[in-house]
Amino acid sequence: MHVNNYNIKEKGFIDSPIDPKIDMVEEIGRMKKEKNAILLAHYYQTNDIQNIADFLGDSLKLSQVAAETNADIIIFAGVHFMAETAKILSPEKQVIIPDLNAGCSLADSCPPEEFKKFKDKYPDHTVISYVNTTAKIKTMTDICCTSTNALHIVNYLPKEENILFAPDKNLGNYIKRMSGRENMVVYPGSCHVHEEFSTEKIVKLKNDYPNAKIIAHPECEKPILIMADHVGSTSSLLKFTNKDDARQYIVATESGIIHQMKRQNPEKQFIVAPPKDSTCGCSECNFMKLITMEKIYNSLKYEQPTVELDRQTLEQAKKPIKQMLDISKELNL
Ligand code: 13P
Ligand code: SF4
Repeated sequence: MHVNNYNIKEKGFIDSPIDPKIDMVEEIGRMKKEKNAILLAHYYQTNDIQNIADFLGDSLKLSQVAAETNADIIIFAGVHFMAETAKILSPEKQVIIPDLNAGCSLADSCPPEEFKKFKDKYPDHTVISYVNTTAKIKTMTDICCTSTNALHIVNYLPKEENILFAPDKNLGNYIKRMSGRENMVVYPGSCHVHEEFSTEKIVKLKNDYPNAKIIAHPECEKPILIMADHVGSTSSLLKFTNKDDARQYIVATESGIIHQMKRQNPEKQFIVAPPKDSTCGCSECNFMKLITMEKIYNSLKYEQPTVELDRQTLEQAKKPIKQMLDISKELNL
């Protein structure tokens, strides 16, 4: 179907009026079938989007699905680097991101020129980059990782191999502590959501709820990771709350994951860890939350905006992602 590109260029998404009488869930389902499309959604998406996703997961799981799907169209309800990863893995497919403005402060904290300067200082280091980077950074990377497999990938490499880890300093330093590796340098990037959780307020909350366990994403600052009962990726935190026998949890990651925690454990209580600045609403990733049901509907209807990358970038960025997927497969992750 034809749509004027004008509003995509101006706004980053299709801002076309939607008939208020239509049943959005039904229509999205119908169009997905008709177009052989699948909807992938990250745990940080809003509840309504999580509820209609064909695959819901963390960034590792979603990249594994993107690499294997037979669908012709992938609609990515997540942020741009995730959709870009799907495009790199399935370049022949149409990969749609419902709003091109859905970026990532962590990926932005590692601009290619800065990264190149940093990398040039460590020419004999193997570069491991978190997938939360642009495709350009991936072209300068040896092996990608996600928060689920970062420690496994670092441990997979021989102890004497020097590592440059980018871009998240909190995850990188956590991996460095866990692996006991001294020969690892860490790029100083960070995520505005995870850096914003307040250690002091979490300590106070723990006093108010002494039986609650603290669970934290490794992008949080060190004092929070030290006091956490469990540190892990979004899927790891979810699995922990399913298996563990506590009744209350203080959750230090983006609050979208709580929807699945509550669904899978209705008898338990989940408390969002408070941010340093209580007026900022920082436990939500404003980029993730740019994706809405309306934008998904319009992007599927008009098959835009799509993720586009040149051939050289596609080829070069694929190598480190493939490496990550191959190692993860070998390690059964
Ligand atoms: P996961 O690796 O847990 O999906 O985390 C992705 C992310 O964006 C964290 O902020
Ligand atoms: Fe990026 Fe942080 Fe949002 Fe994750 S939560 S997508 S790292 S800005």
